[in-house]
Amino acid sequence: MKGFVHGGHSGNEGLALKNLMTEHDPSSGEVKIKLKAAGLNHRDLFIPDRHDSSDPDVILGSDGSGVVIEVGPGVKTIKEGDEVVINPGLGWERNASIPPEGFQIVGFPGHGTFAETIVVPEENAILKPASLSFEEAAVVGLAGLTAYRALFTRGQLESGQTVFIPGIGGGVATFLLKFAKAAGARVIVSSRSEAKRNSALELGADMALSDEEEWGEVVANEEVDLVIESVGAATFNRSLSLLKRGGTLVTFGSSTGDSIEFDLRSFFYGQYNLLGSTMGSGEEFRAMIQFVEDHSIKPVIDKSYPLDEIKKAFDYLGKANQFGKLVVSM
Ligand SMILES: NC(=O)c1ccc[n+]([C@@H]2O[C@H](COP(=O)([O-])OP(=O)(O)OC[C@H]3O[C@@H](n4cnc5c(N)ncnc54)[C@H](OP(=O)(O)O)[C@@H]3O)[C@@H](O)[C@H]2O)c1
Repeated sequence: MKGFVHGGHSGNEGLALKNLMTEHDPSSGEVKIKLKAAGLNHRDLFIPDRHDSSDPDVILGSDGSGVVIEVGPGVKTIKEGDEVVINPGLGWERNASIPPEGFQIVGFPGHGTFAETIVVPEENAILKPASLSFEEAAVVGLAGLTAYRALFTRGQLESGQTVFIPGIGGGVATFLLKFAKAAGARVIVSSRSEAKRNSALELGADMALSDEEEWGEVVANEEVDLVIESVGAATFNRSLSLLKRGGTLVTFGSSTGDSIEFDLRSFFYGQYNLLGSTMGSGEEFRAMIQFVEDHSIKPVIDKSYPLDEIKKAFDYLGKANQFGKLVVSM
Protein backbone atom coordinates (compact mmCIF):
# COMPACT_ATOMS: atom_id res chain seq x y z
CA MET A 1 0.00 0.00 0.00
CA LYS A 2 1.02 3.63 -0.42
CA GLY A 3 2.08 5.58 2.65
CA PHE A 4 3.59 9.01 3.30
CA VAL A 5 6.52 8.29 5.61
CA HIS A 6 9.45 9.87 7.36
CA GLY A 7 12.76 8.04 7.50
CA GLY A 8 16.20 7.60 6.01
CA HIS A 9 17.11 11.31 6.08
CA SER A 10 16.64 13.88 8.83
CA GLY A 11 14.21 16.79 8.60
CA ASN A 12 11.95 17.31 5.61
CA GLU A 13 14.41 15.48 3.31
CA GLY A 14 13.20 12.27 4.94
CA LEU A 15 9.59 12.78 3.79
CA ALA A 16 8.48 10.54 0.93
CA LEU A 17 5.43 8.78 -0.49
CA LYS A 18 6.43 5.12 -0.70
CA ASN A 19 5.00 1.77 -1.72
CA LEU A 20 5.12 -0.12 1.57
CA MET A 21 5.55 -3.87 1.58
CA THR A 22 3.89 -4.53 4.91
CA GLU A 23 0.28 -4.08 5.95
CA HIS A 24 -0.77 -4.84 9.49
CA ASP A 25 -3.62 -7.11 10.52
CA PRO A 26 -5.73 -6.20 13.53
CA SER A 27 -4.80 -7.92 16.80
CA SER A 28 -7.18 -8.52 19.69
CA GLY A 29 -9.36 -5.44 20.29
CA GLU A 30 -8.19 -3.67 17.11
CA VAL A 31 -9.87 -2.79 13.82
CA LYS A 32 -8.44 -2.25 10.34
CA ILE A 33 -9.76 0.75 8.42
CA LYS A 34 -9.59 1.42 4.69
CA LEU A 35 -8.93 5.14 4.79
CA LYS A 36 -10.99 7.41 2.53
CA ALA A 37 -9.44 10.71 3.66
CA ALA A 38 -6.88 12.08 6.13
CA GLY A 39 -6.54 15.52 7.68
CA LEU A 40 -3.31 17.48 8.15
CA ASN A 41 -2.33 19.15 11.42
CA HIS A 42 0.43 21.55 12.41
CA ARG A 43 1.83 18.61 14.43
CA ASP A 44 2.68 16.78 11.18
CA LEU A 45 5.19 19.54 10.42
CA PHE A 46 7.08 18.82 13.67
CA ILE A 47 7.49 15.03 13.19
CA PRO A 48 10.41 15.18 10.68
CA ASP A 49 12.46 16.85 13.45
CA ARG A 50 11.24 14.50 16.21
CA HIS A 51 11.55 11.12 14.45
CA ASP A 52 15.07 9.66 14.46
CA SER A 53 15.74 9.04 10.76
CA SER A 54 17.81 5.94 11.57
CA ASP A 55 14.69 4.32 13.11
CA PRO A 56 12.30 2.42 10.82
CA ASP A 57 10.08 4.56 8.56
CA VAL A 58 6.98 5.91 10.27
CA ILE A 59 3.75 6.74 8.42
CA LEU A 60 2.69 10.29 9.35
CA GLY A 61 -0.82 11.61 9.97
CA SER A 62 -3.09 11.75 13.02
CA ASP A 63 -6.53 12.29 11.52
CA GLY A 64 -8.57 10.14 9.20
CA SER A 65 -11.89 8.60 8.27
CA GLY A 66 -12.82 5.46 6.36
CA VAL A 67 -14.54 2.10 6.35
CA VAL A 68 -13.76 -0.82 8.68
CA ILE A 69 -12.56 -3.78 6.59
CA GLU A 70 -11.46 -6.23 9.30
CA VAL A 71 -11.96 -6.61 13.04
CA GLY A 72 -9.63 -8.44 15.43
CA PRO A 73 -10.68 -10.99 18.04
CA GLY A 74 -12.87 -9.67 20.86
CA VAL A 75 -14.02 -6.48 19.09
CA LYS A 76 -17.57 -5.72 20.26
CA THR A 77 -18.54 -2.17 19.36
CA ILE A 78 -17.51 -1.96 15.69
CA LYS A 79 -18.19 -4.25 12.74
CA GLU A 80 -16.95 -4.64 9.18
CA GLY A 81 -18.51 -2.04 6.88
CA ASP A 82 -18.91 0.62 9.59
CA GLU A 83 -18.01 4.15 8.45
CA VAL A 84 -15.76 5.65 11.12
CA VAL A 85 -13.76 8.69 12.15
CA ILE A 86 -10.51 8.17 14.09
CA ASN A 87 -9.93 9.59 17.55
CA PRO A 88 -6.16 10.27 17.35
CA GLY A 89 -5.61 10.09 21.13
CA LEU A 90 -4.37 6.62 22.11
CA GLY A 91 -4.81 5.39 25.69
CA TRP A 92 -6.87 8.29 27.14
CA GLU A 93 -10.46 7.07 27.27
CA ARG A 94 -12.01 8.46 30.48
CA ASN A 95 -12.28 12.16 31.36
CA ALA A 96 -9.37 13.21 33.56
CA SER A 97 -7.42 16.35 34.38
CA ILE A 98 -4.33 14.89 32.70
CA PRO A 99 -3.85 12.05 30.21
CA PRO A 100 -2.79 8.70 31.67
CA GLU A 101 0.84 7.53 31.51
CA GLY A 102 1.59 6.16 28.05
CA PHE A 103 -0.83 8.48 26.21
CA GLN A 104 0.22 8.74 22.55
CA ILE A 105 -1.06 10.33 19.36
CA VAL A 106 -1.71 8.46 16.12
CA GLY A 107 1.02 9.21 13.56
CA PHE A 108 4.18 9.07 15.69
CA PRO A 109 5.62 7.15 17.34
CA GLY A 110 3.16 4.61 15.83
CA HIS A 111 2.00 4.62 12.22
CA GLY A 112 -0.53 7.21 11.09
CA THR A 113 -3.26 7.96 8.61
CA PHE A 114 -1.42 9.17 5.46
CA ALA A 115 -1.81 5.70 3.95
CA GLU A 116 -4.40 3.44 2.39
CA THR A 117 -5.13 1.51 5.59
CA ILE A 118 -4.53 1.82 9.33
CA VAL A 119 -5.06 -0.42 12.38
CA VAL A 120 -6.32 1.25 15.59
CA PRO A 121 -7.88 0.09 18.89
CA GLU A 122 -11.66 -0.31 18.54
CA GLU A 123 -12.31 2.53 21.01
CA ASN A 124 -10.49 4.91 18.65
CA ALA A 125 -12.88 4.14 15.77
CA ILE A 126 -16.01 6.26 16.30
CA LEU A 127 -19.05 5.99 14.03
CA LYS A 128 -18.93 8.83 11.50
CA PRO A 129 -21.79 11.32 11.80
CA ALA A 130 -24.03 10.96 8.73
CA SER A 131 -23.99 14.77 8.40
CA LEU A 132 -20.26 14.76 7.52
CA SER A 133 -18.63 13.55 4.31
CA PHE A 134 -15.50 11.41 4.65
CA GLU A 135 -13.35 14.47 3.91
CA GLU A 136 -15.14 16.57 6.53
CA ALA A 137 -14.95 13.78 9.11
CA ALA A 138 -11.24 13.31 8.39
CA VAL A 139 -10.34 16.81 9.60
CA VAL A 140 -12.49 16.90 12.75
CA GLY A 141 -10.43 14.67 15.05
CA LEU A 142 -7.36 16.30 16.53
CA ALA A 143 -8.35 19.92 15.97
CA GLY A 144 -11.98 19.47 17.02
CA LEU A 145 -11.02 17.58 20.18
CA THR A 146 -8.37 20.15 21.13
CA ALA A 147 -10.79 23.03 20.54
CA TYR A 148 -13.57 21.32 22.51
CA ARG A 149 -11.46 20.63 25.62
CA ALA A 150 -9.78 24.06 25.53
CA LEU A 151 -13.10 25.94 25.25
CA PHE A 152 -15.45 23.90 27.41
CA THR A 153 -13.55 21.59 29.79
CA ARG A 154 -10.68 23.97 30.54
CA GLY A 155 -12.10 27.37 29.58
CA GLN A 156 -15.62 26.67 30.94
CA LEU A 157 -17.07 28.92 28.23
CA GLU A 158 -20.69 29.92 28.80
CA SER A 159 -23.31 31.42 26.56
CA GLY A 160 -23.09 35.22 26.56
CA GLN A 161 -19.37 35.33 27.40
CA THR A 162 -16.75 36.84 25.10
CA VAL A 163 -13.78 34.82 23.85
CA PHE A 164 -10.70 36.02 21.95
CA ILE A 165 -9.00 33.69 19.42
CA PRO A 166 -5.74 34.95 17.83
CA GLY A 167 -4.48 33.48 14.51
CA ILE A 168 -7.92 32.58 13.21
CA GLY A 169 -6.51 30.99 10.04
CA GLY A 170 -5.32 27.98 12.04
CA GLY A 171 -7.02 24.61 11.79
CA VAL A 172 -7.91 24.48 15.49
CA ALA A 173 -8.84 28.17 15.54
CA THR A 174 -11.60 27.73 12.96
CA PHE A 175 -13.13 24.98 15.15
CA LEU A 176 -12.83 27.27 18.19
CA LEU A 177 -14.77 29.95 16.31
CA LYS A 178 -17.54 27.59 15.19
CA PHE A 179 -17.85 25.88 18.58
CA ALA A 180 -17.88 29.16 20.52
CA LYS A 181 -20.56 30.67 18.27
CA ALA A 182 -22.65 27.47 18.55
CA ALA A 183 -22.38 27.80 22.35
CA GLY A 184 -23.77 31.35 22.21
CA ALA A 185 -20.54 33.24 22.88
CA ARG A 186 -19.36 36.54 21.41
CA VAL A 187 -16.15 35.90 19.44
CA ILE A 188 -13.28 38.27 18.65
CA VAL A 189 -10.49 36.96 16.42
CA SER A 190 -7.23 38.20 14.93
CA SER A 191 -5.30 37.34 11.79
CA ARG A 192 -2.37 38.70 9.86
CA SER A 193 -4.38 38.33 6.68
CA GLU A 194 -7.28 40.56 5.62
CA ALA A 195 -8.78 37.74 3.55
CA LYS A 196 -8.78 35.46 6.62
CA ARG A 197 -10.32 38.18 8.79
CA ASN A 198 -13.12 38.58 6.24
CA SER A 199 -13.64 34.80 6.10
CA ALA A 200 -13.87 34.70 9.90
CA LEU A 201 -16.49 37.50 9.89
CA GLU A 202 -18.48 35.55 7.28
CA LEU A 203 -18.35 32.51 9.59
CA GLY A 204 -19.87 34.55 12.40
CA ALA A 205 -16.98 36.20 14.23
CA ASP A 206 -18.21 39.42 15.86
CA MET A 207 -14.97 41.34 15.41
CA ALA A 208 -11.68 40.67 13.59
CA LEU A 209 -8.43 42.44 14.56
CA SER A 210 -5.42 42.90 12.29
CA ASP A 211 -1.89 42.45 13.62
CA GLU A 212 -1.08 46.08 12.82
CA GLU A 213 -3.72 47.78 14.95
CA GLU A 214 -3.48 48.48 18.67
CA TRP A 215 -5.70 45.69 20.01
CA GLY A 216 -6.32 47.29 23.39
CA GLU A 217 -7.76 50.43 21.77
CA VAL A 218 -9.99 48.54 19.35
CA VAL A 219 -11.55 46.33 22.02
CA ALA A 220 -11.57 48.97 24.76
CA ASN A 221 -15.32 48.54 25.23
CA GLU A 222 -15.25 44.73 25.39
CA GLU A 223 -14.99 42.43 28.42
CA VAL A 224 -12.96 39.42 27.25
CA ASP A 225 -13.74 36.51 29.59
CA LEU A 226 -11.59 33.91 27.88
CA VAL A 227 -8.56 33.87 25.56
CA ILE A 228 -7.60 30.71 23.69
CA GLU A 229 -3.95 31.02 22.63
CA SER A 230 -2.11 28.73 20.23
CA VAL A 231 0.04 31.11 18.16
CA GLY A 232 2.59 31.38 20.97
CA ALA A 233 5.41 33.89 21.34
CA ALA A 234 4.21 36.18 18.51
CA THR A 235 0.86 36.98 20.16
CA PHE A 236 0.86 35.70 23.77
CA ASN A 237 1.38 39.00 25.60
CA ARG A 238 -0.91 40.92 23.27
CA SER A 239 -3.61 38.30 23.81
CA LEU A 240 -3.16 38.38 27.58
CA SER A 241 -3.47 42.17 27.60
CA LEU A 242 -7.03 41.91 26.22
CA LEU A 243 -8.25 39.65 29.02
CA LYS A 244 -10.54 41.15 31.66
CA ARG A 245 -9.29 41.09 35.26
CA GLY A 246 -10.04 37.67 36.71
CA GLY A 247 -10.34 36.16 33.22
CA THR A 248 -8.84 32.91 31.93
CA LEU A 249 -6.25 32.26 29.22
CA VAL A 250 -6.02 28.68 27.91
CA THR A 251 -2.95 27.75 25.88
CA PHE A 252 -2.38 24.58 23.87
CA GLY A 253 0.06 25.64 21.13
CA SER A 254 3.13 27.71 20.41
CA SER A 255 3.56 27.77 16.63
CA THR A 256 5.77 30.89 16.78
CA GLY A 257 7.96 29.90 19.74
CA ASP A 258 7.72 28.32 23.18
CA SER A 259 9.40 31.00 25.30
CA ILE A 260 7.95 34.34 26.35
CA GLU A 261 8.57 36.95 29.04
CA PHE A 262 5.59 38.26 30.88
CA ASP A 263 4.87 40.68 33.68
CA LEU A 264 4.17 38.75 36.89
CA ARG A 265 3.06 41.78 38.85
CA SER A 266 0.26 42.82 36.49
CA PHE A 267 -0.66 39.12 36.20
CA PHE A 268 -1.19 38.53 39.91
CA TYR A 269 -2.76 41.93 40.55
CA GLY A 270 -5.15 41.12 37.72
CA GLN A 271 -6.15 37.79 39.35
CA TYR A 272 -5.75 36.06 35.97
CA ASN A 273 -5.97 32.30 35.38
CA LEU A 274 -3.49 30.59 33.02
CA LEU A 275 -4.37 27.03 31.99
CA GLY A 276 -2.62 24.51 29.78
CA SER A 277 -4.61 22.08 27.65
CA THR A 278 -3.78 19.27 25.30
CA MET A 279 -6.09 17.27 23.05
CA GLY A 280 -8.67 15.42 25.18
CA SER A 281 -10.12 12.09 26.32
CA GLY A 282 -12.17 9.56 24.37
CA GLU A 283 -15.23 10.74 26.32
CA GLU A 284 -14.55 14.33 25.26
CA PHE A 285 -14.07 13.14 21.67
CA ARG A 286 -17.53 11.55 21.66
CA ALA A 287 -19.05 14.64 23.29
CA MET A 288 -17.36 16.79 20.61
CA ILE A 289 -18.77 14.62 17.78
CA GLN A 290 -22.22 14.86 19.38
CA PHE A 291 -21.82 18.66 19.63
CA VAL A 292 -20.87 18.79 15.93
CA GLU A 293 -24.00 16.79 15.05
CA ASP A 294 -26.33 18.70 17.37
CA HIS A 295 -25.25 22.06 15.97
CA SER A 296 -24.86 20.89 12.33
CA ILE A 297 -21.27 22.12 12.36
CA LYS A 298 -19.24 21.69 9.17
CA PRO A 299 -15.45 21.96 9.39
CA VAL A 300 -13.74 24.66 7.35
CA ILE A 301 -11.69 22.94 4.64
CA ASP A 302 -9.34 25.19 2.71
CA LYS A 303 -7.93 22.70 0.19
CA SER A 304 -8.15 19.03 -0.72
CA TYR A 305 -5.30 17.08 -2.35
CA PRO A 306 -4.98 13.52 -3.68
CA LEU A 307 -2.62 11.40 -1.54
CA ASP A 308 -0.10 11.49 -4.41
CA GLU A 309 0.20 15.28 -3.93
CA ILE A 310 0.53 15.31 -0.15
CA LYS A 311 3.91 17.06 -0.30
CA LYS A 312 2.15 20.10 -1.81
CA ALA A 313 -0.22 20.08 1.18
CA PHE A 314 2.76 20.01 3.57
CA ASP A 315 4.37 22.98 1.84
CA TYR A 316 1.11 24.94 1.94
CA LEU A 317 0.61 24.22 5.66
CA GLY A 318 4.23 25.16 6.38
CA LYS A 319 3.63 28.64 4.89
CA ALA A 320 0.55 29.15 7.15
CA ASN A 321 -1.47 30.25 4.11
CA GLN A 322 -4.51 28.15 4.94
CA PHE A 323 -7.82 29.19 6.41
CA GLY A 324 -8.99 26.09 8.24
CA LYS A 325 -8.03 22.54 7.41
CA LEU A 326 -6.20 20.70 4.64
CA VAL A 327 -7.28 17.21 3.65
CA VAL A 328 -5.92 14.41 1.44
CA SER A 329 -8.15 11.84 -0.27
CA MET A 330 -7.09 8.25 -0.84
N1 LIG B 1 -1.45 20.61 22.58
C1 LIG B 1 -2.26 20.05 21.70
O1 LIG B 1 -2.92 19.04 21.97
C2 LIG B 1 -2.39 20.65 20.34
C3 LIG B 1 -3.38 20.21 19.47
C4 LIG B 1 -3.53 20.84 18.24
C5 LIG B 1 -2.65 21.87 17.89
N2 LIG B 1 -1.66 22.22 18.74
C6 LIG B 1 -0.74 23.32 18.40
O2 LIG B 1 -1.55 24.48 18.22
C7 LIG B 1 -0.99 25.30 17.19
C8 LIG B 1 -2.06 25.52 16.13
O3 LIG B 1 -2.31 24.28 15.46
P1 LIG B 1 -3.07 24.25 14.07
O4 LIG B 1 -3.01 22.85 13.56
O5 LIG B 1 -4.38 24.93 14.22
O6 LIG B 1 -2.05 25.17 13.24
P2 LIG B 1 -2.12 25.83 11.84
O7 LIG B 1 -3.36 25.36 11.12
O8 LIG B 1 -0.81 25.58 11.20
O9 LIG B 1 -2.32 27.41 12.17
C9 LIG B 1 -1.38 28.21 12.78
C10 LIG B 1 -1.89 29.68 12.75
O10 LIG B 1 -1.05 30.47 13.55
C11 LIG B 1 -1.06 31.79 13.02
N3 LIG B 1 0.35 32.24 12.90
C12 LIG B 1 1.36 31.58 12.36
N4 LIG B 1 2.48 32.32 12.40
C13 LIG B 1 2.15 33.49 12.99
C14 LIG B 1 2.86 34.68 13.32
N5 LIG B 1 4.16 34.83 13.07
N6 LIG B 1 2.20 35.67 13.91
C15 LIG B 1 0.88 35.56 14.17
N7 LIG B 1 0.16 34.45 13.88
C16 LIG B 1 0.79 33.44 13.30
C17 LIG B 1 -1.69 31.75 11.66
O11 LIG B 1 -2.93 32.43 11.71
P3 LIG B 1 -3.20 33.72 10.75
O12 LIG B 1 -2.64 33.39 9.40
O13 LIG B 1 -4.68 33.83 10.78
O14 LIG B 1 -2.53 34.90 11.37
C18 LIG B 1 -1.84 30.29 11.37
O15 LIG B 1 -2.97 30.01 10.57
C19 LIG B 1 0.25 24.54 16.69
O16 LIG B 1 1.37 25.05 17.39
C20 LIG B 1 -0.01 23.12 17.09
O17 LIG B 1 1.17 22.38 17.26
C21 LIG B 1 -1.52 21.64 19.96
